[in-house]
Amino acid sequence: MYSRIIGTGRYLPERVMTNFDLEKLVDTSDEWIRARTGISERHIAAEGETTSDLASHAARNAIDAAGVEPESIDMIVVGTTTPDLVFPNVGCLLQERLGIGACPALSVETACSSFIYALTVADQFVRTGLAKRPLVVGAETMSRIIDWTDRETCVLFGDGAGAVVLDAASEPGIIFSSLGADGRYRQLLDTDSGISQPPPDGKKTSLRMKGNEVFKVAVRTLEGMVDEVIEKNNLKQGDIDWFVPHQANLRIIAATAKRLKIPMERVILTVAEHGNTSAASIPMALDTGIRDGRIKRGDLLLLEAFGGGFTWGSSLIRY
Ligand code: UT7
Repeated sequence: MYSRIIGTGRYLPERVMTNFDLEKLVDTSDEWIRARTGISERHIAAEGETTSDLASHAARNAIDAAGVEPESIDMIVVGTTTPDLVFPNVGCLLQERLGIGACPALSVETACSSFIYALTVADQFVRTGLAKRPLVVGAETMSRIIDWTDRETCVLFGDGAGAVVLDAASEPGIIFSSLGADGRYRQLLDTDSGISQPPPDGKKTSLRMKGNEVFKVAVRTLEGMVDEVIEKNNLKQGDIDWFVPHQANLRIIAATAKRLKIPMERVILTVAEHGNTSAASIPMALDTGIRDGRIKRGDLLLLEAFGGGFTWGSSLIRY
């Protein structure tokens, strides 16, 4: 048994924050941000709008696109770094809100790779017969853990959510998945505090990143993943129709596309309008490419992500 994608959806909060808005907050410029990252604007959740709010809109869109009843969903896996609460997990919050019946609901927390991890977990449940129709979501309110005085990170991130509905099928679907992690790099990209390690008095938990060092490991790791996918699946140049990468930085995406020998016209890019939305970036890019008609049934897709931890993962999918 395999899993295939039967519906996708996305949701972006209404408020748009441009690079020019950020020029008023920190010592930066639209020119620097665009040249170094490819980002022009990002969406920011409204006050009181939570990760599960964004996730529920994206999930409804995906369920509608799949043309199935919410009650037929038999597993929920949410990738997120910014859950509403310590618990219940965002999967349970979605279950209640979307009217999905009793079924396993969990979240995975592997930063920017969370969606690939979530997709792989759901796919494995389908392959072993434990689930037939999982809902997989990547959703983030990164704005909540941004230090808005740190120009090295606050210009990079945005909020959003993307979702896919998988269905059991006799043919893939998800052909190949690969996951990895290396905790020795934890200090290059992390948060300064959390729950059992609380923030120093009165402060909020904030993301920290040594961007330049992350950049180098990200490119190296993503190139290694490209080589692995090509080798293990005997792929030839031109076999992959669409590259749907995590959207952290246009320069990282371009380096990976070069290794893949795929032209940039075959890469789904949303980084300019969304910034880095962590777990949400891949499902939102996937939904963008599907809804605007570029990605068609039968196309071969490569999804790849790299993030804090470090964690990474890839998925080769016949859409
Ligand atoms: O999604 C999870 C994984 N995350 C990533 O993959 C992010 C990886 N890293 C990156 O995308 C890039 O490293 C950044 C976009 C974060 C930074 O780009 P960079 O080309 O690596 O720049 P840099 O950190 O080497 O900084 C170059 C200069 C520095 O000034 P000096 O030392 O050359 O005088 C920085 O202080 O740019 C300065 N700088 C800024 N200038 C204007 C850093 N941030 C800003 C800013 N505006 N926002």
